[in-house]
Amino acid sequence: MMINKCLFPVAGYGTRFLPATKSMPKEMLPIVNKPLVQYGVEEAIEAGMTTCAMVTGRGKRAIADHFDISYELEHQISGSGKEARLESIRSVLEKGVFTMVRQREMKGLGHAILTGQSLIGNEPFGVLLSDDLCINDGPGVLAQMAELYNQFRCSIVAIQEVPHDEVNKYGVIAGESLKDGIYRVDEMVEKPDPENAPSNLAIIGRYILTPDIFDIIRETAPGAHGEIQLTDALQTQARRGCVMAYKFKGRRFDCGSVPGFVEATNYVYEHFYRED
Ligand code: G1P
Repeated sequence: MMINKCLFPVAGYGTRFLPATKSMPKEMLPIVNKPLVQYGVEEAIEAGMTTCAMVTGRGKRAIADHFDISYELEHQISGSGKEARLESIRSVLEKGVFTMVRQREMKGLGHAILTGQSLIGNEPFGVLLSDDLCINDGPGVLAQMAELYNQFRCSIVAIQEVPHDEVNKYGVIAGESLKDGIYRVDEMVEKPDPENAPSNLAIIGRYILTPDIFDIIRETAPGAHGEIQLTDALQTQARRGCVMAYKFKGRRFDCGSVPGFVEATNYVYEHFYRED
C-alpha cells in the first residue's frame, strides 16, 4: 500500500532566527541555495508522497509562491545558461501537488496536524518537520519509514540517540527493541527533564501516522508548554494499539537552531554544492 500524502506543519514563527524571519517564513531560509522546505518536499516526493499538504499561517505566502510557477522568472532566464538553476524546483513542480490550509492559532504540533485533517482524509500519511534536515546516501528517511509501514501498518516515529542533557528539547520514547533499530513504543514523553526521561531516544521530525490519530488528538488535553502535543496523542495510540519507533539511517541537522543551521550549511556546501 502506497502512502500518497505528506503533511508539512509550516505555520511556526521561527523566533530564533529574528530578524531574518520577521517577514520571511523560517521554512524559506536557504541551506546554501535551496529553502529548507524544498529539501523536505523532495524527501517526501522521493518516498512516493506526491501530495504535499501544507499547514500554513499568516505571513507564509512565500511558501505557496515557491511551489508555483514564476512566469517572470521563466521568461527572463529561459534559454540562458541560468536555466539549470531552476532544475530542482521544476522537477518538484512536475511531480508534486500542493494543497494548503491555514492554522489560525498556534496551539502546538498536535493542533497543526488536526488542522491538516481536511487535506489528508482517512488514509495513512507522512509528516515532515522541515526544521529537521535529514541527508543520507540511499533512500531518504520518509522512504525508509514508508517501507516499514508496509510491514507494521501502524504509526511510526523516527528516532535518534541524543546526549542525555538534551532530551528536554524533544519527545522521548521508551520501548521494547524488536530488532536492530526498531522499537515497539510503550512510553512517550514530550520534553521531559533529563532526570525523568525514559531514555535518550529522541523523536526527530518524521512520522507516518494512521488517520485514527485525528480523533485521538481531538480528545488530547494541552500538555507541555500548554500546547496540544502530538507526542501525547501518540502515547494514547501506543497504549490502545501500536506505535513503532525507527532509528533511521542518515544524518540529521537541527536547522531550528542557529548552530545546527550553520553545520548543515557547511555540510551541504562541502558535499553537494556545484558552482556552474
Ligand atoms: C517537535 C515535537 C517533538 C520532536 C521535535 C523534533 O518539537 O513536539 O516531540 O522531538 O519536534 O524536532 P519542536 O521542535 O517543535 O519543539
